[in-house]
Amino acid sequence: MSAGSPPRPTLREVVSRRTVLRGLAAGAAISAMPRLARARGTTGDEGAERSFDFEPVTLEVADSHRVAKGYRSDVLVRWGDPILPGAPKFDLGKQSPRAQAGQFGHWNDYVTFMPLPLGSGNSSHGLLCVNHEHATGRMMFPGVATRGSPGENEMAIEMEAVGHSVVEVRRSASGRWRVVRSSRYGRRTTATTPIEIRGPVRGHRRVRTAQDPAGTRVLGTFANCSGGKTPWGTVLSAEENYEQYFAGTPAQAGPERRNHERYGIGMSPKGPTFKWHKLDARFHVGAEPREANRFGWIVEIDPYDPSRTPVKRTALGRLKHESAAVTLDADGRVVVYSGDDQEFEYLYRFVSHGRYEPGRREANLDLLDSGTLSVARFEPSGRCHWMPLVFGSGPLTPRNGFRDQGDVLIEARRAADLLGPTALDRPEDIAVDEKTGRVYVLLTGNPARTPSRVDKANPRAFNLSGHVLEIRTKKSAGGHHHAGLTNRWEVFSLGGKPEEGLPHNPDNAEFDPKGRLWIATDQGKGQHLRGVADALWAFETSGPRRGRGTPFFACPRAAEMCGPAFTPDGRTLFLAVQHPGAYGETPGQPRPTVDTPTTRWPDFKPGMPPRCSIVAITRPDGGVIGG
Ligand code: FEO
Ligand code: CA
Ligand code: CA
Repeated sequence: MSAGSPPRPTLREVVSRRTVLRGLAAGAAISAMPRLARARGTTGDEGAERSFDFEPVTLEVADSHRVAKGYRSDVLVRWGDPILPGAPKFDLGKQSPRAQAGQFGHWNDYVTFMPLPLGSGNSSHGLLCVNHEHATGRMMFPGVATRGSPGENEMAIEMEAVGHSVVEVRRSASGRWRVVRSSRYGRRTTATTPIEIRGPVRGHRRVRTAQDPAGTRVLGTFANCSGGKTPWGTVLSAEENYEQYFAGTPAQAGPERRNHERYGIGMSPKGPTFKWHKLDARFHVGAEPREANRFGWIVEIDPYDPSRTPVKRTALGRLKHESAAVTLDADGRVVVYSGDDQEFEYLYRFVSHGRYEPGRREANLDLLDSGTLSVARFEPSGRCHWMPLVFGSGPLTPRNGFRDQGDVLIEARRAADLLGPTALDRPEDIAVDEKTGRVYVLLTGNPARTPSRVDKANPRAFNLSGHVLEIRTKKSAGGHHHAGLTNRWEVFSLGGKPEEGLPHNPDNAEFDPKGRLWIATDQGKGQHLRGVADALWAFETSGPRRGRGTPFFACPRAAEMCGPAFTPDGRTLFLAVQHPGAYGETPGQPRPTVDTPTTRWPDFKPGMPPRCSIVAITRPDGGVIGG
């Protein structure tokens, strides 16, 4: 689920959507539109060639998923499936923290495929690396709604159900994927896993706690939304809405006062979404005001070496990180783009000091510990400026409460505020086109933007449907200059008209091995109000249909679309279906629970709850996804 309130369509939008649906042939309404439009020449893009070989899927909200005709979809791994040696099979009535610690986590989000062996381009055997954004008790534990909130043992299970999974997978001769049981790579990183703090914040006074007086080792990661992967074969997991786990009132004085305010720590009038403070005092900001400073980072995990401790890379700043899109500058420095997912937040970019050295993995493993974090300003002129967050420069001094670079990184939002960046409509995932050097920034929407706050990069007031920006880097013989202080930018696509190839609420994105852009949507409650399922869309980045997409895969009821990830040969696509059945259709009604889901996807067995799952998409003829 996304940060803040999910975008909600206006009544006018809902009525207009229902009118469209009524006016068209039932069922195939939305799917038929681009095809019909092309045949009849009604949308202005008639004759425009798509870069993809499939006809659009239907987008009505339904109990099960749908994939484009001619493709096969297999549910590969579900919440609760055993992925570590000795882990038990899923049993709704026999959950335990120990069982969950060896099983696939809940609420799957980011997914990527890492070939085996390391450095190979193997597309039939590898490691699926998957984030688990939340573990929501109401969709896990029978009867929890009547009890009010999960009990202590159930919260301990939640703690083992978040974080990250490494799952070994193999494609058989029949073409189907399966999980390799008893894998030596299988791994869970959860809210109780020791994680090292590295970079400028390591040992900083503001991350020292009673549990960790040295400020070098934190227990766990959670709120892991999207992510990225590095050229040296590690995965970056983005800690997003971590404030939802902290109870108590924000600090009223001292160094954490403005920090707690700026990140909303302890500020929900209803208390935190998760009640872990009842189990562990570190989640109470009154008892431990610095614990929240140990979350909101990018976590680096080495899936090829289960013995290597995951690391929080603090040089990339503390935000509600949606993602971490990695590329290389022409000169070999590592560049990581990251969105801070909340209304009116910013786009950030990290540039390493050191250069990537191909083939020297150990030399690259700590590249993310030293570099410069910058924040973006999108000028109306079409220029984009990157402004460095460096202690001692400009306003980032003791006068404004920053005593060192650690302070700047812990309070990256407040440091950025002082530099005048562009407040965006919820910056989510970022995708880099390695062929063109263009960078796509997905903004999922911002109903709170008033007409007086509209600007060129956020061109719509009450932005319910989001949009996508495109940043253009300069090129030289060595490659694209992602590390420059200035780029060009423009609006790439405005969401809100799925029948015209402009989906609502772009959230996640990835380029396939052929260099084509795919975008996943997260409408929040909007999918039911609009009657349009969340989906994966194949997008055109050039030609007459530039900025428009074609729906390829539609989620089951109430689920949002996460991932996508491709094998190196482009012949398998992995998708994460998040929170199926977890939201209702009628505003104001009690939220569904594990006892009353709105679908039982993917098992559809009585008593079996809906389960977040990874779906493997292939073609029976073994062809490339999208053609
Ligand atoms: Fe976790 Fe921004 O979606
Ligand atoms: Ca989302
Ligand atoms: Ca997301």
